[in-house]
Amino acid sequence: MRYEPMNPITFDLFADAEPEQQPRHEQIGEQSYVLRGFALPWLDRLLPALEAVLTAAPFRQMVTPGGFTMSVALSSCGTWGWTTDRNGYQYTRNDPQTGAPWPEMPEVFFELAQAAAREAGFMAFVPDSCLINRYVPGARMSLHQDKNENAYTAPIVSVSLGLPATFLFGGFERSAKSQRVPLFHGDIVVWGGVDRLRYHGVLPIKEGQHPRLGEQRINFTFRTAR
Ligand code: SIN
Ligand code: FE2
Repeated sequence: MRYEPMNPITFDLFADAEPEQQPRHEQIGEQSYVLRGFALPWLDRLLPALEAVLTAAPFRQMVTPGGFTMSVALSSCGTWGWTTDRNGYQYTRNDPQTGAPWPEMPEVFFELAQAAAREAGFMAFVPDSCLINRYVPGARMSLHQDKNENAYTAPIVSVSLGLPATFLFGGFERSAKSQRVPLFHGDIVVWGGVDRLRYHGVLPIKEGQHPRLGEQRINFTFRTAR
């Protein structure tokens, strides 16, 4: 599948929006956007679906190949779940903790991911994996590239819920300078195309209480893994 790059001159993301309802989209790279508040209208469907996924596949802290326990707790849904242990990173069909297949991706997850991708100019996103990250205050994610997928033609769609975070959006080498992008409840970051392999990470989450989600940040990362 090929994703056509947007024509920066004729492509107008907001052409159809009424001035007062213009979504606050911010471009952070040639093919990368922050869609402010995009997930908010979906929350009443999203949160019960999340709860069902987590009942079947609870959060757990995983160990990296280097032997470090990640501060972020993980779960997954969809055909492929992302895992890490002493032997490496991989996508698996089954949850290693339960031995059962990862929970199916709820319809509302899939629809939201597709709608966000489309909003950012990726018209045919078909995610087969949703990694669910849980950050408590102090948890962080160091700079990395998402490159365990078979192909890099599909974008990454990353949904933020709960406590705010500072997202680091870097370059193509770990040492490149990163932009610091504040992310709030309901924001979605989409990066793909020429930006697909950019380094990214999350600074340690600050103490706080979110009115709806409490003392945590939840992130969904949608990908086409296979
Ligand atoms: C990730 O890169 O997997 C997570 C990014 C985020 O939590 O915003
Ligand atoms: Fe990532």
